[in-house]
Amino acid sequence: MKLLIPGTTTNFGAGFDTFGLALNLYNIFEFEESDAFGVEIEGEGKNLPRDENNLVIKVYKRACEVFGVRPEPFKLKQTNRVPTARGLGSSATAIVGGIEACVGLHSLEVDLEDRLKVAFEFEPHPDNLLPAFVGGFVVCVQDGGLTFNRISFPSELSLVFAVPDFELSTEEARRVLRGEVSLRDAIFNIQRASLFVSALLTGRYELLKEAVRDRLHQPYRSKLVKGFDRVLEAGYSAGAYAVFLSGAGPTICAITSDETSGSVGSAMREAFEGENVRARTLYLKAEDRGAFWE
Ligand code: HSE
Repeated sequence: MKLLIPGTTTNFGAGFDTFGLALNLYNIFEFEESDAFGVEIEGEGKNLPRDENNLVIKVYKRACEVFGVRPEPFKLKQTNRVPTARGLGSSATAIVGGIEACVGLHSLEVDLEDRLKVAFEFEPHPDNLLPAFVGGFVVCVQDGGLTFNRISFPSELSLVFAVPDFELSTEEARRVLRGEVSLRDAIFNIQRASLFVSALLTGRYELLKEAVRDRLHQPYRSKLVKGFDRVLEAGYSAGAYAVFLSGAGPTICAITSDETSGSVGSAMREAFEGENVRARTLYLKAEDRGAFWE
């Protein structure tokens, strides 16, 4: 049995720390009984720890402690498709993976609220975690408990990612943010985040460009991403509905029609390359399922 956890993109410009979407790009975890914990890694994240410092194992053990079962060592085979430290939720896949491994391997029944409590011990932001657990597009409300609403992301939309070949940790990308914002900027974001959800629900994709404008995080973080303005411009010129920083960056995401996804992806990659930044493109769709076994 394999455990598949979707990567995620979050924020969508104005929906900072609020919007998250599961993607059809997975980290796959396989577990084999063993005398001691061990890890084998294929694909992304070759430098991730292969001992008990591996995040999946650490979270598994903590989940066992919280849910009251004895950890059973396993050999973990990770087939990672989600690039690490790029704003695509790779840490969330490990956290959700460790928790789902505990629940699945020990045949437990644990409600989502209790799973989330463990997850929050490892990552304080819900917008990667929730879609990795439940799938779809999730509006997350942080209240110490479980307030969120999930909708299906329109299947006619494509998500194109230009992934530069450098990493940016979420910690670093949060350090550059301001602790306080003006009323004007708060209103600016509330208006656009609300517009974003209504545009998705009514299929008015021409509104998405305005809806992803942001004043809370992107103006500061974009300075850490060489070529950001040029890539954004290239995405729009090639016909994207919306272009924004994926999560904390440095990956840049575009929402497109299926027809324009190819040209938007090429334009964004070339724009990065014009700034001497090597980049690759991922052409994805929304995933309606959260973590699942197969
Ligand atoms: N919303 C978070 C951020 C996502 O942008 O920092 C990364 O956890």
